[in-house]
Order: sequence, then structure tokens, then C-alpha cells
Amino acid sequence: MPQKVRKAVIPAAGLGTRFLPVTRAVPKPLLPVLDRPLIHYAVAEAAAAGIDQIAMVLSPGDDAIADYFRPNVRLERAFGERGDAVRLAQQKEINGLAEITVLEQTVARGLGHAVLMARDFVGDEPFAVFLPDDLIWSVTPAIAQLARISEEHGGSVVAAKRVPQEAIPNLGIIDAESVGHGVHRVRGLVEKPPLEKAPSDLAIIGRYILTPGVFDRIEYGSAGALGEIQLTDAIAAAIGVEPVHACEFEGDHIDAGTPAGMLAATIYEARRRPEFSDAVAALGLTRA
Ligand code: UTP
Repeated sequence: MPQKVRKAVIPAAGLGTRFLPVTRAVPKPLLPVLDRPLIHYAVAEAAAAGIDQIAMVLSPGDDAIADYFRPNVRLERAFGERGDAVRLAQQKEINGLAEITVLEQTVARGLGHAVLMARDFVGDEPFAVFLPDDLIWSVTPAIAQLARISEEHGGSVVAAKRVPQEAIPNLGIIDAESVGHGVHRVRGLVEKPPLEKAPSDLAIIGRYILTPGVFDRIEYGSAGALGEIQLTDAIAAAIGVEPVHACEFEGDHIDAGTPAGMLAATIYEARRRPEFSDAVAALGLTRA
């Protein structure tokens, strides 16, 4: 009987090279989309899906990322003294989103290795993984759409989206057959294939439901592309052993892990937030 997903891992210990030079001093997960850091969107999506035990895998010294979710005594005292109940409630809401556990990845050895750091936290149950660069706006949280498939079929589920040809060599690509609306049975996964070797235009997006079996597959797999320990290879190794599905989720996705992506995400978010309507109009943009 497949188990309910209660825990999530957010790997956030990468080097952030595509966002240099700002990431010399500010960890990428704290870069803002308007007024919220990237990682806030991931934690809020998890909480909206009922997942409130979250482990963040951070680089040494990046405590500010976890501090963001801790009570801010100075702000709470100031708003309390001023009787500003609205701002006080907004602050407390952030602390209440999830129970955060901080894990360290001392050397950036790849996404697979970062996930491996969460082995003890996860224990023996299925868990979610969020890559905080990937922002998804949807009616049903994207991770809940994946969790529904894992609860129905068991095994692992990766989020998927059709991408234009030029994006294919930079992404994990899925070989799959459709088995229902938005659900694909995965036959193979290949990380960053040359266009002529790509099995499809269906790319892996940074949301996963994984089973604890993935930890052994990461540990005993070999380092893949760029000498990093790849999560994609470990998930591919599960094909034939357990069900592996791709969820072509309903929602809008933007990869905010580059300056251009962050710009697109910022414009997207501004167009949907009523309090930015004047700014959106002044820029000559239309409301979403
Ligand atoms: P990326 O491959 O996008 O790397 O990692 P990055 O460091 O964020 O950015 P670039 O490519 O250098 O510009 C995907 C996710 O995996 C995490 C990252 O923090 C990001 O959330 N990651 C990656 C780790 O936690 N540890 C690693 O060793 C590598």
C-alpha cells in the first residue's frame, strides 16, 4: 500500500555559478522574486500540499536561508508594540509554514549527493524533492499532483514539461509512454542529451517524489555528467525495479535559476499580484 508523502528535501547547496557575481555573497535561494526569496515559494508549495517536515541541504555558512523561516524576534516585538496585527500575522505565518531541519553538504558534489545528505531525515518512507529554482504556479500544488500519482501507482514520480528543441541539451529528458491524462510510464531518463540522441521533448522539472531506495542507488552509482553525482541516474536505475512515472503537471513553470529566468519570474509574479498593478501598468505590461 503506497504511503502518504509527509517529508520534503530542498537541495540548496549548489554553487550558483549562473548567478555570479551576486552568489559570491548571497545564496541563490535567498534571491527575491519581488518581495519573497526563491526558497519561500518552494516551502509554501510544500505546505500547501500538506508536507510540513522539510530538510534543507545547505552549504556551510548559509544559515541565513534557514533563519528566514525562524521567528524574527526584533520584527515581532516592533509590530507587537505598534499594534500592527496584520504585519505581525504575516511574519508568524512564515515561521509556521513548516518544521525545518538544516543539513549540510560540505562540498558541492552534485544534486544526487545533496539528496543523499537527507538519508537519516527521510528514513523509510517516500519523500518529495523540490529544486527551489523551479517556480510553478498552479491551482493544485505541483508536488500534490505528483504525490497523487505516487499514492496511486507506488514508486517514484518526476515532474515533466514539454520544452522547445534548443532547451533539450541542457535538461534531463524522459523516454516515456502516456498511460493517462498527464501521466507517463517512464522507460528511460537521460541527462543533458545531444539533440539527435534525445528520446523526446519531455523534460524533467525540479519536483520529485522518491522512494528511500534512491539512496542506495545514489551511493552505489558512479559519477555521471561533469563528474557530479546525478539524481537522474539514480532514478533511472529504479526503472524495472519499481514503478517510475512522469507527471506532466498542470501549471505555469519558470526556471528562475538564471538572471533572465528570474526576470521572467518577477514579471509573472507582478502581473498576478494586485498590489503591483500600478507598477505593471507603468511598465506597459498587462495584468495576468
Ligand atoms: P544546479 O545544477 O542548478 O546548480 O542545481 P546550482 O549550483 O544551483 O546553479 P549553477 O548551475 O551553478 O548556476 C540544482 C539544485 O541542486 C542543488 C542546487 O542548490 C539547486 O537547488 N545542488 C546542486 C546542491 O544542493 N548541491 C550540489 O552539489 C549541486
